[in-house]
Amino acid sequence: MWGGIYSTLARSVVCVHLEPFIASVIDSIAMRRRVFLAGLAGLSAVGTVAILGKDRRLASSPVSVSTRRSFAIANQTSLRLRAATKGILYGAAIQSQTLSSDPKFARRVVEECSILVPEWELKWKALRPSPNRFNFSPGDKLAAFAKTHKLLMRGHTLVWHHAMPAWLPIVLNRQNAEQLLVDHVQTVVKHYAGKIHSWDVVNEAINPKDGRADGLRQSLWLEMLGPDYIDLAFHAAAKADPQALLVYNDYSVDYDTTEGETRRTAILKLLEKMKAKGTPIQALGIQAHLYRDDPRLNPKKLQNFLKNVADLGLKVMITELDVTDRTFPKDIKTRDRIVAAAYEDYLDVVLAEPAVIALLTWGLSDRYTWLSTDAARTDGSSARPLPLDAQMNRKLAWNAIARSLDRATQRPMVT
Ligand code: G3I
Repeated sequence: MWGGIYSTLARSVVCVHLEPFIASVIDSIAMRRRVFLAGLAGLSAVGTVAILGKDRRLASSPVSVSTRRSFAIANQTSLRLRAATKGILYGAAIQSQTLSSDPKFARRVVEECSILVPEWELKWKALRPSPNRFNFSPGDKLAAFAKTHKLLMRGHTLVWHHAMPAWLPIVLNRQNAEQLLVDHVQTVVKHYAGKIHSWDVVNEAINPKDGRADGLRQSLWLEMLGPDYIDLAFHAAAKADPQALLVYNDYSVDYDTTEGETRRTAILKLLEKMKAKGTPIQALGIQAHLYRDDPRLNPKKLQNFLKNVADLGLKVMITELDVTDRTFPKDIKTRDRIVAAAYEDYLDVVLAEPAVIALLTWGLSDRYTWLSTDAARTDGSSARPLPLDAQMNRKLAWNAIARSLDRATQRPMVT
């Protein structure tokens, strides 16, 4: 029924000056349809797929799902301004070297983003060439760029099991681990004190596959300091910069899969423990590296998880959003539609949760995405996971994010 009205209105759009109005009517129908369908998501997953019908089947054929949507957009207002009108921060992961080497890209960052996060520059391996040296210059370039263009900046990440300098595992031992960790956190956070909106204090500490009852990852930090390394890092960060929001950041909590459920449960348990101990944490970061190979997006389950996090008094930030198109058809039109549908379906759910205060994509343009190397397509064509293409033009993914922002619930205005 909705499909018929939707496509009739879309075909009958003839008056250009009415188009934004009609587009909004079309979209409000689509929104009601999505809200209606999301409401149905409380039924069993199988029941939901049957009710959604073939053009909305999320799991079996992403191509058919995306070919029915127009991704029509009412206007070309930037993602930054669209997000800001809803009290949401939109931004992207950036590398300092691309800002200096690619002025066109730098201009688009300023146009589309309110906040940026260093993709590399604030990780141990970039910051710590040797035990007694800190290399702040790449990070300082990004901080200067953010200040010049009145962008906010996130810090990523103070404690992680990846991107460690070669000397760390050699030097680190049970006697010096606490001092090394606290010194690193305090030195780095103090260096950027007052310039950082929010820090990913600890990244990816959960890995249920490691078999621990608490679901923690068997990392070097855990081996040296036990689970308390997490609280230690947050307390050190809070002392060094009381203004910054302190975030626990992790991945794969998005879909209704066994892994997703196990990870959501373990992360919630960790957050509950941290809150019970009085650890200074203000938000959960959800990386949201999406895919549609096996896309069991269950709105009800995802919304429940977000509400459970919010009920702990925590905010939520979508910190590394992108859509891996590695296994999608080679045809660009088809692929872009599937990517856009993945963005829109996911964001319609997460942005309905008022505790979600920020949305950052892990990159802004397909010209600079980690997926080109880490999830390269086997057919040799370039990855197309982000809102802008490699020529900095807006794609359907941009439309999808814009449409979800337009439908997002209003938050208190971002100051
Ligand atoms: O720029 C340096 C160069 O100066 C140096 O000579 C060279 C050799 O070490 O490395 C270059 O740095 C590379 C860096 O990206 C910047 O391009 C590193 O090798 C490379 O390992 C690093 O990969 C990053 C990866 O994290 C590991 O830190 C990716 O760009 C980045 O997208 C990825 O991001 C992670 C998040 O931090 C956490 N969540 C998952 C996400 C994707 O893996």
